[in-house]
Amino acid sequence: MAKNSVGIIGTGNVGVAAAYSIFQRQIAGNLILVDRDHQRAEGEAMDLMHGQSLVGRVMVRAGDYADLADCSVIVITAGVNQKPGESRLELLNRNAAVFREIAGHLDRHAPDAVLVIATNPVDILTYAMQRLTQRPAQRVIGTGTMLDTSRFRAALGEYYGVNPRSVHAYIMGEHGDSEVPIWSSAKVGGLNLFEQTVNGRQFDAQAMERLFQQVKTAAFDIISRKGYTNTAIGLVIAYLVRVILEDQKSVLAVSVDPQGDYGLEDVCLSVPCIVGRDGIESRVAPLINDAELKGMQASAQVLRDSLKGMSI
Ligand code: LAC
Repeated sequence: MAKNSVGIIGTGNVGVAAAYSIFQRQIAGNLILVDRDHQRAEGEAMDLMHGQSLVGRVMVRAGDYADLADCSVIVITAGVNQKPGESRLELLNRNAAVFREIAGHLDRHAPDAVLVIATNPVDILTYAMQRLTQRPAQRVIGTGTMLDTSRFRAALGEYYGVNPRSVHAYIMGEHGDSEVPIWSSAKVGGLNLFEQTVNGRQFDAQAMERLFQQVKTAAFDIISRKGYTNTAIGLVIAYLVRVILEDQKSVLAVSVDPQGDYGLEDVCLSVPCIVGRDGIESRVAPLINDAELKGMQASAQVLRDSLKGMSI
C-alpha cells in the first residue's frame, strides 16, 4: 500500500477544503478525488494540480472507487443535503443509504484503509459506517468535536491573550447542540482556568458561558453569512489525516463508541483518543465533574433518539 495516498469521497465545499489543506501542506503525495459528479472531481483535481509548482509534487487526480485501492486513509464528505420540508430522520435515512453504498465499494476496493467521516450528522454517520463496513471500528473515525474543540481553544486563547495552542480544553459529546465544554480540566499552560488566575483574568462564569455559546452556534453563525462552513473543517480533516499517516499518536476529540466510558456505549460521540496509523489506538477519557457527566449522558441520549427509526 502506498505510504501516503489519500482518497476523498465528495468534492463539495468540505471535500475541496480538505483536499486543498492536504495538498497545500503536502500531507499526502497522492490525492484521489471521487465524486458522483466525476467532471467536478476532475475540475477540482486539475485546479489543484496547477498549483504544484508553488507547493510541491503532490499528485491529484479524479478517480472512482477502484482507484482508492492504495489509499491509507479515505475521507468521506459525501452526503445528500436536506430538502425543503424534509425531516432530519428522512435525511438521515437517505444518507444512511449513501453510506451503505460507499461501504460496499470501500470494503471491496480499500478494505484496510482508515476511514475519516466528516459528513453530518457526523456522530450518527460514524456509528452507521462502523456497522456497515467490515473493517474494525477503530479504523472508522468521525471528526466529531475536533472542530468545536478548535473553536473553543481559539475563543479561550483570544479571551486570555494566549496562543490557542497553549490552551488545553476539550469540547466532548455530540458535534451539535448537546456538545459539552469540559471546564473542570481546562488549562492554559499548566494553570487550571476554573481555579486560577490566568494572564491576569479570573474565571468569569458568565463570560465563559457566552464564550461557549458562541462556540456551539459557530456553524449557524457562519452559515447565515456565507451559506456553509468548509475551511476550518477542511483543516481539521487535514490535521487528522496527517496524524494517521505519520502515526503521530496525538490525542484528539474524535467521534468513537465510548465502550463504557462514562457509562456510555453503543453510540458514537467525541471523547479524547490517541490516534495513529491504525486509527483509534485507545481512548483517554478525562475525569469529568457531575455536571459534565450529565451533559455527556444527555448528549448520548440525543444521539440514541436520532438513531431510533434509522435503517442501517
Ligand atoms: C461545522 C460543520 C462542519 O460545525 O458541522 O462547521
